[in-house]
Parts: sequence; C-alpha cells; structure tokens
Amino acid sequence: MVIKPKVRGFVCVTAHPAGCAAHIQEQIDYVKSKGLLKNGPKKVLVIGASTGFGLSSRITATFGCQADTLGIFFERPSEEGRPATPGWYNTIAFTNAARAAGRYAKNINGDAFSDDIKKQAIEAIKADLGQVDLVVYSLASPRRTHPKTGVVHKSCLKPVGQTYTNKTVDTDKGVVSEITIEPANEAEIADTTAVMGGEDWEMWIDALLEANVLAPGATTVSYSYIGPEVTWAIYKNGTIGLAKNDLERAAKSLDAKLKAHGYGRAFISVNKALVTQASSAIPVVPLYISILYKLMKARGTHEGCIQQIQRLFATEMYNGSALNFDDARRVRIDDLEMRPDVQEEVKKIWPQITTENLPSLTDIAGYRTEFLKMFGFGLPGIDYEADIEPHVPMV
Ligand code: NAI
Ligand code: NA
Repeated sequence: MVIKPKVRGFVCVTAHPAGCAAHIQEQIDYVKSKGLLKNGPKKVLVIGASTGFGLSSRITATFGCQADTLGIFFERPSEEGRPATPGWYNTIAFTNAARAAGRYAKNINGDAFSDDIKKQAIEAIKADLGQVDLVVYSLASPRRTHPKTGVVHKSCLKPVGQTYTNKTVDTDKGVVSEITIEPANEAEIADTTAVMGGEDWEMWIDALLEANVLAPGATTVSYSYIGPEVTWAIYKNGTIGLAKNDLERAAKSLDAKLKAHGYGRAFISVNKALVTQASSAIPVVPLYISILYKLMKARGTHEGCIQQIQRLFATEMYNGSALNFDDARRVRIDDLEMRPDVQEEVKKIWPQITTENLPSLTDIAGYRTEFLKMFGFGLPGIDYEADIEPHVPMV
C-alpha cells in the first residue's frame, strides 16, 4: 500500500516503515559520528525502548558504547491493512542494524507494568546476558493496570488546586486559542502518580535485584521535565509534576538500595522539551515547544532526543567522573533550554502569539516536521508514492 500521514488532532494514525528506518539510521549515524565512549555500559535493559528518549538511549548504548540491549515496549503490529505504530517499525530497524553491527538486541512487546513482562525480561537476561549494568526507565503511558490490585489507573494532565487558563495551539490546524482546565481531584492526582510516578520503576529494580540479574555497581536512570513558568500550572505543579516528584522519591530510595549493591546508583535526568508522542498530548506545551525550537535553533543550541541522550551518556554518566547534580539531586541536560536569555525571550514572545503571527513568531513548521518524522514521514530519500508492505514481523 501507499502510506500517507493521517493526522487526527495530536496523533498520526499511520506510520511509514521505510521512513521510520531512515529516522533510526539518522540517529545511529549521529551517535557514530560522536565516537565510542570508553567507560560505557555493556549490557543494558531499556524499559520504553521503542520511541522518544528510551529509543535514543538504546541507540546510544548500542552504537556509542557497543552494548547489548534488551528492549521493552508496548507497540501494535500492522493489522487489517493498517500500518503498525512507529515504535514497531523503529524497533525492527534498530534491531536489524544492531545485529548487523554484531550486537545482541532482543525485544519484548507487552505491558511493562505487569508481573509477567518483568518475569519474561528476567528470564531473557538470565539466558542471554547474565546481568545488566544499566537500566533505563523511560515509560510514558496514559494508563497502568496495577499488578497487585488489578485496578486500572488512568493518568491525566490537569492543574492542581486551581483552574488554569492559558494559550494553546492546535498544531495540526495552526490555530491558537485559550484553554481552561479545571483542577484535578484527589483521585485523579493519585491515579496519575500511580501511572507516571516511581512505584513501577521500584518494582522493576526490586525484581531485578531479587533475581540477581543486576550487576554490582549498576546504574538506573529515569527522565523528568521541569520547563518554564508558563507551563508550570499544567506540568511541574500539575498532576504530571506531582507524579514526577514521586519518581524523584523513588530515585532516592533506589539509589540507597543500589549504593549497597556494589556502589551502584539511581538518578533522574531532567531533559529538554521535545516533540514526542507523549509531549504532543499535553495542552499548552506544544506552543511552548514551537517557540523554544525557534529560539534554540537561532542560537545553534537546539537538540533532539538523540543529541540529548548522547550528551547525557558522554558528559555525565560515562565520562569517568561523578554525576553533576542540581540542589535536588537531578542531572540537568535541560540546561540549554533553561538558559536565562532563552527563557526571557520566551516570556516576551508568549503574550504576543496569535493564530496570524504563529508562523513568524514560532517554529510551528519545525514542530510539524519533527512530529511527522516521528511517524516516518518527510525523511529524505524515501519514495512516499511507492507501494510498501505495512506488515513487517517483529524481530
Ligand atoms: P514516548 O511516548 O516517545 O515513549 C514512551 C515509551 O514507553 C514507548 O517506547 C512505549 O512503547 C513505551 N510504553 C508505554 N506504555 C507502555 C507499557 N504499558 N508497557 C511497555 N512499554 C510502554 O515518550 P517520551 O517523551 O520519550 O517519554 C519518556 C520519558 O521521558 C517520560 O518519563 C517523560 O515524562 C520523559 N520526558 C519527556 C520529555 C518530552 O518533552 N517529551 C521531556 C523530559 C522528560
Ligand atoms: Na521513551
């Protein structure tokens, strides 16, 4: 079939297998261009490995550190003539490239929150790797079935304590409007923390320790976001921010456990705002990202997921010295985003934005390009008029 983008609000319901493969190759080429890291991890488990920051972590481990990887993700294959999700195609392209380079790469597609997938992962590590020395926890999910209670928790993106009104953009239509979001109730706050907080990360590390498949001295990292004041009501101080506070709590608790296990470590890296499937669903944030991209591109400081994670590995995690923490024990690779000159400019531009000046005051075009690229569209060298087989079996 000929596969074209079909954008519905903040999702694209199609994905292009060859385009996704080209996108993977771009990321591999970038990591290779930066050279091999001498002190990198050798056996890596990535939970949330098929898109966004988790995928970039897997690519950096494999092609920047010559690591063997086990990837966990939740993706849908092609069915009834519908293309698969991009993470499905990404994983196949990544795995083929990793194996061609002589690296081990194994995949488990299923619910990472479940006991069963944890068990499968442990069995795979035991059988093929022995132990892992890095665990990247990079899930972004709208819901979690709790493995002990069976309760389905749904996360929401709402302010806490008060109603929030601000500008937002329909990135597909290019229309700027005002959005008002009512505050979350206690149950919604608790549910969001159950999904995006630290409990499942702790369950993973506890299960790995218990099964003795975590190497002494191993590292585990998870990702968070802080961002500018304009988004605090919906992000940092909203339901997702409270869940991230719980992730920070888990990082401290896990760090103590891992310190006692061969002097390992657990920490949070605060990353830059980027177009991913997870971030495009958040109100207000895509408008901020469109402004940010313009300012950072003009300064030559713009980075994508792969540049962010390669830098995290090269300058923080595996540069042979200790991690640089902020006052809350977090690594900050959002440093270039948070630079005062950038943020002051955001503050100036924000009140001026209208539907009419959106294309000139922001990089909405760049936002859309990046968004489509996540689904394998707009890649150079791909013939998008050509017939392509959407059904590709997992490898
Ligand atoms: P993403 O949507 O690109 O990736 C999510 C990953 O989780 C995918 O691999 C998906 O298959 C997997 N996943 C989701 N539910 C699953 C389940 N039940 N079982 C197994 N796998 C599942 O998201 P993104 O943006 O890369 O987010 C990863 C982390 O980075 C999140 O913690 C997010 O808060 C954080 N972050 C994101 C930023 C952004 O601007 N996108 C900025 C800073 C941090
Ligand atoms: Na990810």
